Amino acid sequence: MNFYVMTLFPEMIQNGLNTSITGRAIAQGKISLKAVDIRDYSTDKYRHVDDYPYGGGAGMVMQPGPIFDCYMDLTKDMGKKPRVIYTTPQGRVFTQDVAQELSKEEDLVFLCGHYEGVDERILEEIVTDNLSIGDYVLTGGELPAMVMIDAISRLVPGVLSNESSAQFESFQDGLLEYPQYTRPEEFHGKKVPQVLLSGHHANIERWRREKSLERTWQRRPELLKDAVLDKKDMAFLKSLSENQKE
Ligand code: ADE
Repeated sequence: MNFYVMTLFPEMIQNGLNTSITGRAIAQGKISLKAVDIRDYSTDKYRHVDDYPYGGGAGMVMQPGPIFDCYMDLTKDMGKKPRVIYTTPQGRVFTQDVAQELSKEEDLVFLCGHYEGVDERILEEIVTDNLSIGDYVLTGGELPAMVMIDAISRLVPGVLSNESSAQFESFQDGLLEYPQYTRPEEFHGKKVPQVLLSGHHANIERWRREKSLERTWQRRPELLKDAVLDKKDMAFLKSLSENQKE
């Protein structure tokens, strides 16, 4: 899978993603990352890429020309038109489901905004998806692009060394993950739950499932309405809410 990022801060993207698991995936060729400096497409001798807003007001607006030339250059050798993601607090919220959907693409282009915004005409022309990482405003689109690339990359086959670990984690079946423990068996007087030391796989699995259900019920109850639940799960949740009433 190939990621392309159109940005005014390519080094921020490269430095952020060329480390840890995404860095290894890039080094192994499981994903590729190209961060392109929009400023390289400025036609101005001072390399300007922004100007005052028509109609007045504070701040500067990124001009459409350099972004368009950057986009044309990036996409000229692609077989089909790629999805182009504009990172904006006005977008649809990026969730695990969106990450899943995007992980199936071969090429993904991100456009990171700055200043007060980007000229609307270029957004209308090239952007296919407006995506937000949450209801707060950041200084630019680079961190959101990095967040999305990280979440999408780890779903690309071969990126996680343990293939199964993307499957059994938070948001699998729409539930939060169960708690994990490692050595020592006792830490500051707290013991690892006995069932995990029992070697009884069915009991361990049931315990983990119930912890997932309990955590989700306590911390993110709104997730339960879309979770994949069987009869046993429902009975367990019912017992949780009955115990609470007592
Ligand atoms: N740009 C600024 N804030 C943002 C957010 N919350 N999500 C995506 N892009 C942004």
